[in-house]
Amino acid sequence: MQYRLAPLFCRPWTLMGITPRLIESHYEGNYGSALRRLNAITEELEALDPATASVEVINRLKRDEAVALNSTLLHELYFASLGGYGRKISDAMANALARDFGSVERWRQEFMALAEGLASGSGWVLLTYLPRDGRLINQSASDHNQNLAGGIPILAIDMYEHAYHIDFGANATAYIAAFMRNIEWNAVQARYEDATKVTPPRPREQKEFADLPSVTAEEVKAMLESGVHVQIIDSRPRQYTTRTAADIMEGAVWRDPELIDEWMGELSKTDPVVTYCVYGFATGCQTALVLRNAGFNASYMTSGHYGWKAIGGKVRLFE
Ligand SMILES: [Fe+2]
Repeated sequence: MQYRLAPLFCRPWTLMGITPRLIESHYEGNYGSALRRLNAITEELEALDPATASVEVINRLKRDEAVALNSTLLHELYFASLGGYGRKISDAMANALARDFGSVERWRQEFMALAEGLASGSGWVLLTYLPRDGRLINQSASDHNQNLAGGIPILAIDMYEHAYHIDFGANATAYIAAFMRNIEWNAVQARYEDATKVTPPRPREQKEFADLPSVTAEEVKAMLESGVHVQIIDSRPRQYTTRTAADIMEGAVWRDPELIDEWMGELSKTDPVVTYCVYGFATGCQTALVLRNAGFNASYMTSGHYGWKAIGGKVRLFE
């Protein structure tokens, strides 16, 4: 399987004291590369036969997979943590923090102290809800790999020596075989059913375009690779392209969204049209909507120009 790119959740132009440039490079470069690494590792793992591959190779790949997967998950959470007024905390959230930390201020101090503690190293500080205990907790993780964010384990084997030494000595193989024999699958299934009731992270919402057909960057890439004749329109606003755009998706043409009435006549009504803007918010959607109303088979690409780059899609110089 391939892990899919999440469109950039926050609106970079609304951030105070953080530039879109920083967010773009973080999203495209760091998040995108973690996702691409994850997909490359997944491909390697799928190509392996676990019956014959060396234990070392499987373990190395699984370690690398966990690092890349957690990096991907945590970056998505990071981008979904930005975009509001930090001091304006809702009553419900303030009450929850006061319940679990004593006061909002106390939570904030601890959270910031943990972040400070990583200043000379690296890692993540997380405010985490524990469904088991129904409480919030701050967590400092010195690397990507310390837990799977939001993961709900349903089967586990303890491989610390204390879990088997008394019965099996150093014979872990015998212990594992015994464990496998003793799995309570009814309980595993019950936990599985409970786990599937936990809702996934909320997708980005654009209520005004909820009914507008969309395609992901991955789907556009697959269309192009399969030779589908698709008309790709880069409809990033003129002031954006003249100021900051250095590259454009390969196979796309730029058209000024303000002048849509002048150029839409050049398009074929039989071949599909895909429009996109910078991040997949209003402009690309609006362009697709106007084209649909004029009878074109148009949809918009959900994650925009930077999503295309984040999945490693080809670009060319924009002139
Ligand atoms: Fe990062």
